[in-house]
Amino acid sequence: MIFAPEFRLPFRLRGNKFFVASLTPADRAHIQAGLKLMSQESIRNRFMGSKKEFTEKELDYFTSLDGWNHYALGVEEGGGHHRGVAVIRMVRSEARPTEAEIAITVIDEYQKMGLGSFLLDLLVLAALERNIEQFSFTFLPQNEGIARLIQKLGSPELIREHDTVRMVLLLRKLNMNKLRSRVRLVLPEIDTGHSGI
Ligand SMILES: CC(C)(COP(=O)(O)OP(=O)(O)OC[C@H]1O[C@@H](n2cnc3c(N)ncnc32)[C@H](O)[C@@H]1OP(=O)(O)O)[C@@H](O)C(=O)NCCC(=O)NCCS
Repeated sequence: MIFAPEFRLPFRLRGNKFFVASLTPADRAHIQAGLKLMSQESIRNRFMGSKKEFTEKELDYFTSLDGWNHYALGVEEGGGHHRGVAVIRMVRSEARPTEAEIAITVIDEYQKMGLGSFLLDLLVLAALERNIEQFSFTFLPQNEGIARLIQKLGSPELIREHDTVRMVLLLRKLNMNKLRSRVRLVLPEIDTGHSGI
């Protein structure tokens, strides 16, 4: 398995140095501090409301992952700062175990430079290792960023709900050769070829 708890690799994007790694309980402080690096708009888009800090219970939920039904990747700055700057997570549906709900955050300073797309590509690979076949994203109708991010990856089904929009992506419909090439461009060390995914 590539995306085991010890998965951690350095990468560069637009001249910036980062690390991408499986999220672990050691990321508690990163997650709490990361909230302070998000604008009110980003917080509303991610949590569908306002939020000043996370409770201990929320931090437990965000960081104590079983790695199979709940898995997340985090990005940390690789230069001087070492701030946690992005997270993507998938939570398997209890009712439909081949489906997962996806949530993603990139701090405002690093948005629109490809980090979200890169993390989504990686999460597809991690999901295939975990027998997930379908991604579901629930977000506010005005959230153009996430809609664009999903539509760049594939052709989702769009479901309008009461106050939110849901987009559903079938992973088997994605162009996996293109996805693997994009990932290898950023992470040449990753061995996507021999893992069977
Ligand atoms: C949504 C989000 C994850 C996108 O991450 P990102 O790193 O900025 O995404 P990328 O840089 O990979 O951009 C992917 C595409 O979306 C576009 N995009 C990103 N943000 C956008 C925005 N606010 N409005 C319009 N397009 C946007 C990019 O331009 C790019 O398209 P392009 O290649 O045609 O130019 C990020 O904006 C975010 O964390 N927002 C706050 C939390 C949130 O909304 N989470 C989603 C709900 S769970």
